[in-house]
Order: sequence, then C-alpha cells, then structure tokens
Amino acid sequence: MNEETGVSTNTTGGGRSLFSGKMGFVLSAAASAIGLGNLWRFPYLAAKYGGGAFLIVYLLLVATFGFALMMAEVGLGRKTRLSTIGAYKSIRKKWAFVGVLASAVPFLITPYYAVIGGWVTKYTVSYFTTPADQIAQSGYFTSFITEVSPETFVYTFIFLAICIAVVAFGVKSGVEKSSKILMPVLIGMSVVITVVGCMQPGAAEGIAYFLIPDFSKISVEMVVAAMGQMFFSLSLAMGIMVTYGSYLRKEDNLEKSVRNIEVFDSLIAILAGFMIIPACFAVTGSGAGVAENAGPSLMFVVLPQIFSQFGPAANFMGAAFFLLVLFAAATSSISLLEACISIVSDGLKCSRGKSIVICSIFMFVVATVVNMGYNVWIGVDPEFVLFGIGQQGDHQILDFLDFLSNTIMMPIVALLTCIFVGWIIKPKAVIEEVEQEGVTMKAKKLFTVMIKYIAPVFTVAILIGYVLMAVGAINL
Ligand code: PFF
Repeated sequence: MNEETGVSTNTTGGGRSLFSGKMGFVLSAAASAIGLGNLWRFPYLAAKYGGGAFLIVYLLLVATFGFALMMAEVGLGRKTRLSTIGAYKSIRKKWAFVGVLASAVPFLITPYYAVIGGWVTKYTVSYFTTPADQIAQSGYFTSFITEVSPETFVYTFIFLAICIAVVAFGVKSGVEKSSKILMPVLIGMSVVITVVGCMQPGAAEGIAYFLIPDFSKISVEMVVAAMGQMFFSLSLAMGIMVTYGSYLRKEDNLEKSVRNIEVFDSLIAILAGFMIIPACFAVTGSGAGVAENAGPSLMFVVLPQIFSQFGPAANFMGAAFFLLVLFAAATSSISLLEACISIVSDGLKCSRGKSIVICSIFMFVVATVVNMGYNVWIGVDPEFVLFGIGQQGDHQILDFLDFLSNTIMMPIVALLTCIFVGWIIKPKAVIEEVEQEGVTMKAKKLFTVMIKYIAPVFTVAILIGYVLMAVGAINL
C-alpha cells in the first residue's frame, strides 16, 4: 500500500501507484463524497428551499452538470496522471491557474468542516455520558455552541487531531476499507431512524413537503444553493476528483464508476432528507417551524428528539448513530486534509511531514476563528455579521466560508473547467480517455453538450442572476 495516497501499488501507469481496481476508486471517491454534505448539509438546504422542488433541481443537476464535470475531472486526472495543478499545467501552461484556484477550495472547507465534525464528536460523547432526554431538550445545542467555554474548541480539536493522525500515520487506506462495513451499517441505522421519525404525529406533512414539488419555490437563490450543494456533496470543483482520477487504471470503466458514485451519493442524501425533514415537521409541530430551524443546527436539534422516542435504547441509538456519522465525516475530512497537504508539499516543495505541520497549524487556527464566531465574538459585538453574510448573531464565519467556497469559488472553477475541457482540449480528449481497452462511452452526446454549452451558459446565467438579485436589481 502506498501510504500517501492510500491506494494499492500497481504500477502499470508509468510508475504511479494505482487503485487496485474499479472498486478501489469508487470506494475511495465515495468515502470522500459521502459525508456531512449528505447527512447534515443536504437536509437543511432542502428544508430551507422548498423540499421537493429543491430535491428535483438538485437531482437534475447531479445527473447532468455533475455527471459532465465529474467525468471531465476524473478524465483529466487519468489522462495526465497528475494532480490538479499539474494536470492543467501539463496540457496548457496558462491554464494552471484553474488548478491553483481549485486548490484553494479545500483550504476554505476543511476548517469549517472540522467545526461541524466537532459538533458530531460532542454529540457522540454526550450520548455516552448524558441521558438522551437531556440532549433532546431545546437549547441544548445552542448553549453548547454559544457558551464562552473551551468545550466547542476542544471538540473541534479532537476531531481535527483524529483526522490529522490518520493522515500522518498513513492508516488512511485502512480507514477507507472500514467504510465498506460501516457505511452499510450507517445506512441501516438511518433507515430505522427514518421509519421511527416518519411515524411521529405531524411527520406526514413533512414527507409531502419533501416529495411533492412546489415549483413556485424555484428561485435563482435556490438553484445557486442546489448547484453549490452538488459540488460540495460530490467533492467537485476543487480538484479532488482530478487527483483521484490520476490513480485510476486505464482498463477501468470511468463512466460507470462516476455513475455509481453519483447514484450512491444521491441516495444517501435523499435518505438523510427523509430522516430529518419529516422529523423536523413532527418536532416543530408544523411547517412553519421548518424554515426557522433549517440552518446548520437542524440535524443536531431534530435527531435527538427522535432518539428520545427509543425509550431505554435512546442513548444507545444516539451514540451509535453519531459514531457512524463521525466516521463518515472523518473519511471526508481526511480526503480534504490529504488534498491540502499534497498542495502545500508540491507548492512549497517541502517534505510531507513539514506540509502536515503547516496544514495542521492553519486548520487549527482557522477552525478556532470559525468557532469564536458563535461565542466569543457574539459576546464582544452582538450585532456582528461578517460581510453581511448570515444572520445577525448567527453563524457568520461558518456561513461566510461556506458561501465563499460553494457559491463563489466552486461555480467559477466549474465554469473554467468546462471551458478548458469543452473548448481548449475538446470533449473528444475526455471521450477518448474513457474509450480505451474496448470500453464505449454511453453518454457521449450528453457529456459534449453539457460541457461545451449548457453547463457554462447555465453557470454564467445563474451567477449573474444571483449577483443582480443580491444587489437588489432584480427579484427572481
Ligand atoms: N463531499 C463531502 C461531503 O459531502 O461531506 C465533502 C467533501 C469531502 C468535499 C472531501 C471535498 C472533499 F475533498
């Protein structure tokens, strides 16, 4: 095993370590893709932006834009056998900046991802130490994050330290292999929680909200949110899939692998939606409470109330569930960290050890600042809102980093990737990359039309619409 990449050593690709087979790639990419994006971020966005309407827009984007972009990124990686910056640079030197831009994204996401990871760690520990009814009380979550005490910081640090240790000691591949067992267990548990949640009084309204699309809810803001979520959840537009593609063998069917990852990732997001949205309706008593609660805290506020329905098994259910979520979050966070570390060691031409130290310091510092936004800075200035993003006294720094990465940087990287593949190297280059060793690409037309025309035009239109809306010039 290659400890740095976590892939088995099979050197048919010019000395580069390769995934041991299609499953190796699908598994590692899925371990990166499935995480808090599916379990925490998707449900609160779906609750916020109209349930069924958001789900439809999201799935449409995944099947078209997401498919084309993932094919382009993975294809680019396998073709060049290089990671992000190198991949663009080796084809057109001038385009290396797209790789640089993409590489900045994991540095924005990892610190706030670690803060949410810290919340999950706190809940895991709490279910071992505190009666479930107490955790289900209203105000439990808010007082945890807003109290000026070392607690939130300690949990973030524990989460980060675990991920850094895994990367530093090279046990990443072992962790990813364990996901083969733990992911199905997480899915099984989620199904049980969903069934119990959906049986609560009031939940039926939530099921309808999530399943019956109300198309009047579609807005520019919602489509931008769905697009950002698609990038985030599939780990796209940040160079990660280029790197993963570079470890893929020539004989593996790239198209099938990409479809597998997309289907798997979307199914888990839908399951999480069913687990949390109907429960939210039941817990808040009506649909009116949904919008108010549909923020980053949703999962942490709603699920404990469902767990408390399990009576004497409540603590066990809570502990097991959050432990599994913690695992899913850690595998994603590890892949984010790994990306940052290789970017720093390539960029600064320093050793991997040095790069781990630099990245760790950066992550600890930025995550601390994100955490402070909830407590220390609110105490100093209750009106504090960073650049007007987020709500007053609310989750400003986390929201700002999330906004900057998902709504600004990722659409720009995606747009540039489409232009690069669609117009500079041409879709044929990726199609030829897919069609090797007797493999035929099924969705050639979809890929070509998406990457050349629809995806770039759509991204530009939606971004312009969003900016005009934000400055108040239009109301869409
Ligand atoms: N896709 C992950 C999730 O949905 O939680 C987040 C993520 C992980 C993004 C790893 C990027 C990445 F490299």
